[in-house]
Amino acid sequence: MELLQSIRGMNDILPAETPLWSKAEKIIQRVIQQYGYQEIRFPIVEKTEVFKRSIGEVTDIVEKEMYTFLDRNGDSLSLRPEGTASCVRACLQQGLLVNPQRLWYQGPMFRHERPQKGRYRQFHQIGLEAFGMSSPIIDAEIVLLTARVWKELGLESVVQLTINSLGSAEARKRYREALVNFLMPYKADLDEDSQRRLTSNPLRILDSKNPTTQDILREAPCINDCYDEASQRFWNELIELLDRHQITYRVNSRLVRGLDYYTHTVFEWVTDALGAQGTVCAGGRYDGLVELMGSKPTPAVGCAFGMERLVLLYQNLQNLAVTANIYLVAVGQAAQHYAQLLAEKLRNALPSWSIVQHGEEGSFKAQMKKADKSGAEYAIILGENELSNQKIVLKSLRKTENQEALSEIELINFLSKIYTGERV
Ligand code: HAM
Repeated sequence: MELLQSIRGMNDILPAETPLWSKAEKIIQRVIQQYGYQEIRFPIVEKTEVFKRSIGEVTDIVEKEMYTFLDRNGDSLSLRPEGTASCVRACLQQGLLVNPQRLWYQGPMFRHERPQKGRYRQFHQIGLEAFGMSSPIIDAEIVLLTARVWKELGLESVVQLTINSLGSAEARKRYREALVNFLMPYKADLDEDSQRRLTSNPLRILDSKNPTTQDILREAPCINDCYDEASQRFWNELIELLDRHQITYRVNSRLVRGLDYYTHTVFEWVTDALGAQGTVCAGGRYDGLVELMGSKPTPAVGCAFGMERLVLLYQNLQNLAVTANIYLVAVGQAAQHYAQLLAEKLRNALPSWSIVQHGEEGSFKAQMKKADKSGAEYAIILGENELSNQKIVLKSLRKTENQEALSEIELINFLSKIYTGERV
């Protein structure tokens, strides 16, 4: 008899993979907790209307990707394609939005997309939603939280933040008009989907992959030309906050995102390391959604991590065959001799770590390459300067922390704290 197979694009997560998933989930949950978010759980199936009304009727998700079916009572139900709509529905039904709320959730989502690496029909998200707070401080907080997650996972050097503001609902409406006026004369040259969207959902045309449409869009008006004063102020404050926290970002004035509920901030964390499916976390502000779902206007902002993509990235990192915890790089004979003494002291202080000294002569660059390949978390760097200043340079090989020059005792204390888990 033929063996039954799983549904295309819906994956088993095997025992060899689950430890990595759990590790990533734990790290993210710990960061989320640091910011005071509380967990909420809601069903995997909702009335189809929940998603239609929130995500928007004329979006890829609702038009083409939802798993929708009639149940035995003849009601139209859908597997959730994302968490925000269900979260808002649950909060309203349970009366949770009388006070500001910071909530998080995790679990499977379902979209009937064409499967490829990083894009599946069942995938998992960890999502966050903050309700009742209208200041850009909260948008910045969510960006800071996500940046902290990358740092804790050691992924901050492989993801980049792209950000934009769609302005208020009115600004967005003005932009819609400006875009339609600009595109109408080119209607016949646009791809088929974009022609249809010209009347139904023109902002989505900006996301078209069609080269002719993209060419036409080059001269199109920009959303920031349509901001009103309040939208501009909101955006300026957010950017100022991100700058103050030294968050690196790229502004992309064409970023609109595939769900209709956004106003003001939209953002995506993207990576080059996964091929075409490079967005690993995305979100934004959606001040109009709660009202659209039938309650009083309530500001809101949130985002979701795509766990399959995040775990793929994390796996790349863990796949480095770790042959050392610390790698000592020493240039010159005196430095090499001292490195050996230091390595012995470190082995005393950190007995279960593997402390590897570069075994031959070699340029600083060649030794650093070996250090990186060893999978070590840290390189200790010693040269003539370091010897004469009695300072040792400690460099993180996996995180973009500043390298530090420490005395021998400071170095041993610092590493001992990491070793005993006092510092993470
Ligand atoms: P989204 O951009 O549709 O936003 O999805 C968030 C993340 O889920 C994406 O960046 C991606 O990493 C992952 N993802 C989406 N589709 C797939 C797929 N087919 N296969 C694998 N991963 C996928 C939302 O869902 C919003 N609810 C986020 C949000 C929360 N905005 C405000 N609050």
